[in-house]
Amino acid sequence: MSTIIELQNITKSYSIGDQHLAVLKGVDFSINQGELVSIMGASGSGKSTLMNIIGLLDRHDGGHYLLKEKRVSQYNDDELATLRNQTIGFVFQQFFLLPRLIALHNVSLPLLYRGLGRKDREKKALDELEKVGVAEYAHHKPSELSGGQQQRVAIARALVGNPHVILADEPTGALDSKIGQEVMNLFINLNREHKTTIIIITHDANIAKQCHRSVHIHDGLIVKGRS
Ligand SMILES: Nc1ncnc2c1ncn2[C@@H]1O[C@H](COP(=O)(O)OP(=O)(O)OP(=O)(O)O)[C@@H](O)[C@H]1O
Ligand SMILES: [Mg+2]
Repeated sequence: MSTIIELQNITKSYSIGDQHLAVLKGVDFSINQGELVSIMGASGSGKSTLMNIIGLLDRHDGGHYLLKEKRVSQYNDDELATLRNQTIGFVFQQFFLLPRLIALHNVSLPLLYRGLGRKDREKKALDELEKVGVAEYAHHKPSELSGGQQQRVAIARALVGNPHVILADEPTGALDSKIGQEVMNLFINLNREHKTTIIIITHDANIAKQCHRSVHIHDGLIVKGRS
């Protein structure tokens, strides 16, 4: 199996005024193509910080990060944005859909930056909404959808660019357990059918145990969990 994400001795700190906070203290962690992995850890342990680094939204301080065997610390911001756009799809706890756009246009928007024409964008967006089971709500705005439906639209948006990796930061955190499980089933099916690599940050042990592997962040380091 090939490695898609390789983190070697990754460090990251934040400074605010004269306060210095070392969040990641030498994270070693790799993920194979096609894996479904969860990351757990106490609040403030650095899960979102790690996800932002993996997703190329933020830079690490020390160590090496190889994404698809590319050493991303050598990339400039434009190159990082391009690689992120081609490789990663994001899903967040609070969905972050654009309130004025109907579901279809929330999903088709990322394709605008790829230069696709409107018809092609909307056809692809509708395909993704179908895949996640909310095609009938394509013309609804987020405020006209339930939380679970909004999260499905957000997952369709993450999928529309055919990412190699989906990064989901507490994707079930704002949903009740039944709807959260439906969203989890969707991730499991996407992983099975399309071999998409999926990383799920969660506080929910029941979600974590449905992944192939679960790791924990503790005191700035990855502590291996069940594998
Ligand atoms: N941009 C930032 N500037 C300064 N400190 C930050 C920044 N982002 C995160 N931190 C700090 O880094 C630590 C780790 O934050 P992070 O958001 O990664 O935690 P988390 O594990 O995702 O927590 P939660 O489970 O509550 O979402 C926290 O102490 C936080 O205050
Ligand atoms: Mg977080």
